[in-house]
Amino acid sequence: MENPKNLIFIIFGASGDLTSRKLIPAIFSLKNQKILPEKYAILGVGRSKLSDEDFRTRMSGAIVSYSEEKSDDKGLIPDFVKDIYYHSMDSTSENDFLTLKMILGQLDEKYGMDGNYIFYMATPPSLYEIIAINLSKSGLANNETGFRRFIIEKPFGYDLETGKKLNKTLHELISEDQIFRIDHYLGKETVQNLLVTRFANGMFEPLWNRNYIHRVEITSAENLGVGDRGGYYDSAGALRDMVQNHLLQMVGLTAMEPPSSLDADAIRNEVLKVFQSLQPIREEDVAKQVIRGQYTPSLIRGECVTGYRHEKDVAINSRTETYVAIKFFINNWRWGDVPFYIRTGKRLPTRVTEIVVHFKQTPHHLFRRESGKLDANQLIIRIQPDEGMLLKFDMKEPGSGFNLKNVNMDFHYKDLADVRVPSAYERLLHDVMLGDSTLFSRDDEVETAWKFLEPIQKAWKNNKEIKVFGYPAGTWGPEHANDLIEGDNLTWRYPCKNLADEELYCEL
Ligand code: BG6
Repeated sequence: MENPKNLIFIIFGASGDLTSRKLIPAIFSLKNQKILPEKYAILGVGRSKLSDEDFRTRMSGAIVSYSEEKSDDKGLIPDFVKDIYYHSMDSTSENDFLTLKMILGQLDEKYGMDGNYIFYMATPPSLYEIIAINLSKSGLANNETGFRRFIIEKPFGYDLETGKKLNKTLHELISEDQIFRIDHYLGKETVQNLLVTRFANGMFEPLWNRNYIHRVEITSAENLGVGDRGGYYDSAGALRDMVQNHLLQMVGLTAMEPPSSLDADAIRNEVLKVFQSLQPIREEDVAKQVIRGQYTPSLIRGECVTGYRHEKDVAINSRTETYVAIKFFINNWRWGDVPFYIRTGKRLPTRVTEIVVHFKQTPHHLFRRESGKLDANQLIIRIQPDEGMLLKFDMKEPGSGFNLKNVNMDFHYKDLADVRVPSAYERLLHDVMLGDSTLFSRDDEVETAWKFLEPIQKAWKNNKEIKVFGYPAGTWGPEHANDLIEGDNLTWRYPCKNLADEELYCEL
């Protein structure tokens, strides 16, 4: 793999969780793979008053706790953290950016670098605009003396209006090709593998359309609750937190037309076309096509699990959804009339993300099936855990007659010996260092995704009759979500049953 040009990686919000859990372990791993620039430095920026040494100690601890490379037999951590620095400042103060500029200049000189900076906004979203404004005013955003790239974490706005406003403010200061909107799902190997599965194999693409596919289902379930993120989550909810970005990106890659090349814009243009083809859900249809839920207290294997409204920093009368399921259509020649069902939720029975492509039945049923079992052919693309693919099809059961048995043909990434699946952040941070924006959301994609969700947000805001269904923690969400799926005896694929009677980890 290519080594990027020399650079300084600046993290705003460096004392936060994201830096310790994801960013520093990911950069550490890049270092161990020897794919960092020849010369680089990391500068953490935050309000907390810390010395370089304090921050290095914290980051060493973060690597020990969160890096996949657990042991440090080779003494790699001390060698890594020596290039990490910390600067305490107020990101809303224009003056503080002049000091930041000076510090960056000194680091540049010390390391003999080329003025290339990557700014990572790991702060609350309310600070994105002011940080970009202050960087621009201090001359730090200017691309002329080296590249200046900005990584922005979701949420990219709160709705269509604020999403557009954020894009507009950023575009007044920097150009679109300097902006990397990170959606960590796009960094997952299995999400990228969707492109390969579809476009490197001749056998799937001819079937990948309305003539052979009955419906597509995408599930992203989590067994954990909101933990200590209640403050953020209560103003976001599952629609903004997961659907606007991760789920719709998976829809985009599943439904897109083959791109003409692997060029960043060639791929993103095709995803955008899918978003533009999403059939708008009318406000009056929201109650029918969108089911929202909120987890309630429950007993899981003898342990009491708190309901959402009693989580830390959550309003006691909150109507924020921790679960959402949506049925929609894509209005184009490939997908006309094929329903897409997506769902995501917290405190479901397990952590699993998968895409299930249900193929149509044979036109004439020659053989007897077990009663009620109609789903003969399914392709299941497992994003996590136990990453892989599974094809379900019917075989003859040995013995007299022609009885059918549904069997599996499967592939698991874990069976590839010696292949380590890199973390999403490793892949994405390395791509930003190289300037490759293929796996990042573009301004128009983000706005079009918000546009699709706008009637849902409006209906929920304006119509208090639309229910927020309670579901006991550890179950698969509100039962009403089953009614979304059209067809007799059809329902979601349940990779495992409710927590009360199944193991937490479920095999593909
Ligand atoms: C984040 C959301 O973007 O994705 C979290 O903010 C969610 O609420 C997380 O838990 C899920 O990511 P993953 O990689 O664990 O599926």
